[in-house]
Amino acid sequence: MTIKRIGVLGAGLMGSGIAQVAATGGYEVRIVEVSDDLIKKGLSGIEKSLAKLAEKGSITAEQKDAAVARLGGTTKMEELAGADLVIEAIVENLETKRGAYARLDAICKPETIFASNTSSLSITELMTATGAGRRRRFLGMHFFNPVPLMKLVEVVRTILTDDDVYAEAIALAESLGKTVVKAHDRTGFIVNRLLIPFMLDAIRALEEGLASIEDIDNAMKLGCNHPMGPLALADFVGLDTTCYIADIMFDDFKEKRFAPPPLLKRMVQAGLLGRKSGRGFYDYADPKNPKPTKLM
Ligand code: CAA
Ligand code: NAD
Repeated sequence: MTIKRIGVLGAGLMGSGIAQVAATGGYEVRIVEVSDDLIKKGLSGIEKSLAKLAEKGSITAEQKDAAVARLGGTTKMEELAGADLVIEAIVENLETKRGAYARLDAICKPETIFASNTSSLSITELMTATGAGRRRRFLGMHFFNPVPLMKLVEVVRTILTDDDVYAEAIALAESLGKTVVKAHDRTGFIVNRLLIPFMLDAIRALEEGLASIEDIDNAMKLGCNHPMGPLALADFVGLDTTCYIADIMFDDFKEKRFAPPPLLKRMVQAGLLGRKSGRGFYDYADPKNPKPTKLM
């Protein structure tokens, strides 16, 4: 099958980035969200990002306009009936994702490939929300944030994924200018298995009073040449998403290094979700100049 039409479920941080690179790559893209406001917000974020890339000369103005013309948004999942591939990027919750896949399975044609951008859930467990015919056409495509700038996609197969489907997903990711690493269906795949304990350890170090927010981040930026410190990165990923991922990984591995620290849980309970809510370890009232939040 040749993939031409791509459905993207969710227009949050990741769904909008995936939709953007797919449209820039020449695919017809339809994004599904739960409300018209969220579609509007997602599409306007994509247009801003494309404008920035055009301004910097990474794409031409014509490429930007063509990408915008290939994008559409809807609240009706039924509009994905003709999609060749659906990439799901909704909230990191097993039951919500399984519910969405069960609905999609009834809507999409039998050949449609289903891919999840999950950070930590079992692709196999998501797959079993669909019927026997779909399971061969189900896999993980894990993009990284911010999708338009990050080069990697982890392509994840289950025991049941067809070789042809796996090859098609790899070719698709490569056609978007991404580099693929292949992984089997183990919680967190490659990157999050290593990255999540690192970010959680930084939060534990802060909780224990080892150093300030800024000093922990500067230590890793200047001492290890990381583009962002681990606390700024947690804000960037979203503290709610980081906490969901940690809970899922801890549940699967039962190892303390994956357990969400109490400070992270309290921040999420208090509505400090990082950049997306305007406040996390830093306050983004002035986005160019974030200030550390007083947490204790
Ligand atoms: N679209 C277009 N342009 C963008 C953009 C976007 N979405 N985001 C940033 N940019 C642009 C900025 O506007 C800026 O442009 P100028 O140089 O013209 O000002 C340029 O990219 C660089 O951005 P910044 O100056 O803001 O900051 P930076 O140099 O630190 O780069 C970054 C930003 C690429 C995000 C960099 O900080 C970085 O690589 N951070 C680490 C990201 C990372 O580790 N991501 C993985 C998260 S984990 C994950 O994704 C998996 C999971 O499951 C949780
Ligand atoms: P987000 O909170 O920014 O966006 C999730 C969006 O999904 C919301 O806009 C929500 O309205 C929408 N949604 C929820 N249920 C829906 C449904 N049934 N149909 C359509 N839309 C629905 O979250 P995010 O950061 O974009 O994360 C999305 C997925 O990507 C998660 O599985 C997450 O683990 C994964 N991921 C996140 C990152 C990151 O850095 N944030 C990186 C890689 C992968």
